[in-house]
Amino acid sequence: MASAAKDKWYKYLLLRRHASLRSYVPETKLLDRHHFSKLLSKYGHVIVKPVWGSRGQGIFQVSWLGHHKYIVHYENIKVLVRGRTNTYRYIRRKIGNASYMVQRRITRPTINNRPFDMRVIIQRRTDSSVWVVTGKVIKVAGKGYIVSNNTRSKGKLLHFKSGIRQSSVRHLSASKLESHIDRVSIRSAKRLSAFFPGHRIYGLDIGIDRKGHIGIIEANLFPARSHFRKLMDKTMYHRITDYQNG
Ligand SMILES: Nc1ncnc2c1ncn2[C@@H]1O[C@H](COP(=O)(O)OP(=O)(O)OP(=O)(O)O)[C@@H](O)[C@H]1O
Ligand SMILES: [Mg+2]
Repeated sequence: MASAAKDKWYKYLLLRRHASLRSYVPETKLLDRHHFSKLLSKYGHVIVKPVWGSRGQGIFQVSWLGHHKYIVHYENIKVLVRGRTNTYRYIRRKIGNASYMVQRRITRPTINNRPFDMRVIIQRRTDSSVWVVTGKVIKVAGKGYIVSNNTRSKGKLLHFKSGIRQSSVRHLSASKLESHIDRVSIRSAKRLSAFFPGHRIYGLDIGIDRKGHIGIIEANLFPARSHFRKLMDKTMYHRITDYQNG
């Protein structure tokens, strides 16, 4: 159980194999040359990430530029590589034989030209089976980064509605988007709870694309509260703490 909780591949399969969540979970495969090639030619952009990763460590974005050119973006570095096989080898040299996954990239909208996604906290009280969204924060990637992890990329945290209103998807209805995200989040928590009975908190990383389609990037069983502590308004932080206490 302790290991399953941190196994991104296992948690991916739990969500992806649930009919009513499937369309919200970006296609992912265990990384090998064949799947790397397949997803890259299907989507043009992929994210390559460790099965046992955390805090945005060891994450690569690969983009096909046309002809035989590929851009590998990791941390705040971009490298141009020629040929798909060379690109795969380039990444393999950096990661050794660690277990990795390759995932469809969600083409995220931006705030001040930087991509953003969000962290949603879903909790239930000790003797209740009712799941509640207790926190939601927009994480804007720091300058030059693809990952939105606040500490790693020196990114920014924003309240959901004000973030959407200053973003490249400001034309979308923030309320409709929010209620859709809440519904998908609660459905995810219910699904996960069948496999982690007794667990009372989930932190979902959720991305939206430029049309407002929702994508579940990953589910965390031990989400940090620090995102919410860092916001000036402590309402969500206090609610999360209150739920944690019972
Ligand atoms: N498929 C994807 N499409 C777009 N962006 C992605 C995708 N996968 C990851 N990212 C970006 O990279 C970040 C880190 O990815 P992920 O959450 O999978 O790794 P992590 O190391 O577990 O991070 P954390 O410990 O913060 O949860 C995401 O929050 C998001 O900003
Ligand atoms: Mg994450």
